[in-house]
Amino acid sequence: MELKADNGEGIDSWREVTLIYNAALRQVETKLEILNDEFQHVHQYNPIEHIKARIKTPESIVKKLKRHGYESTIDNMVKYINDIAGIRVICSFTSDIYRLADMIAEQRDIRVIAVKDYITFPKASGYKSYHMIVTVPVYLSDRTVDTKVEIQIRTVAMDFWASLEHKIHYKFEGAAPDHIRNELVECAKMVSDLDARMLQLNNEILMIGQQKEAQG
Ligand code: GTP
Ligand code: MG
Repeated sequence: MELKADNGEGIDSWREVTLIYNAALRQVETKLEILNDEFQHVHQYNPIEHIKARIKTPESIVKKLKRHGYESTIDNMVKYINDIAGIRVICSFTSDIYRLADMIAEQRDIRVIAVKDYITFPKASGYKSYHMIVTVPVYLSDRTVDTKVEIQIRTVAMDFWASLEHKIHYKFEGAAPDHIRNELVECAKMVSDLDARMLQLNNEILMIGQQKEAQG
């Protein structure tokens, strides 16, 4: 572990970093679970399929700092690395993604630092996902630390695509052959099409349910 301690304000040791980011991660995870439970209660379905949370490894933090030309200090990682605490939320439908994102953003103790909507504006690779960098307050015995958490929200289909693309990216160290990249772009289109059709189907099912209810 090459991270040097820093004597300035805030977080000053790797152990403290881990503790604080873990706490932030747990808070955001709980918030999402509560929203999911409430959704179940009100609308009789769960918008969240599952949640994956992780803390970035020290090796990966050092690598990223180096890539961006920063020295490996605690200060720099807290300042420049936005995804030390990362949470991935897998939803059933695209509409759930925006609903969840709005509900998170509206919470009083959450501050939204940045949003990247790769669903409305997919990457050239075909990557789709909704990214938010937020801060959540972590209350310690003697101070409060506003801590950054990266939230990635995507559908099951988008997640399936991103997992395979990630594997391929690693395998070819970012230089996959053209035919593979083209095939991935094609698959991304199919993912978008599938998501749209599944949403349409679900809406129809909901409508039929409502009509039946209205008829008694
Ligand atoms: P890093 O990619 O983490 O350096 O941050 P960034 O500032 O480029 O942010 P961006 O929103 O582009 O990506 C953040 C994260 O989203 C990544 O660490 C990945 O987990 C995911 N991601 C972004 N682009 C892709 C992509 O093309 N394919 C896959 N599989 N994942 C991606
Ligand atoms: Mg990136």
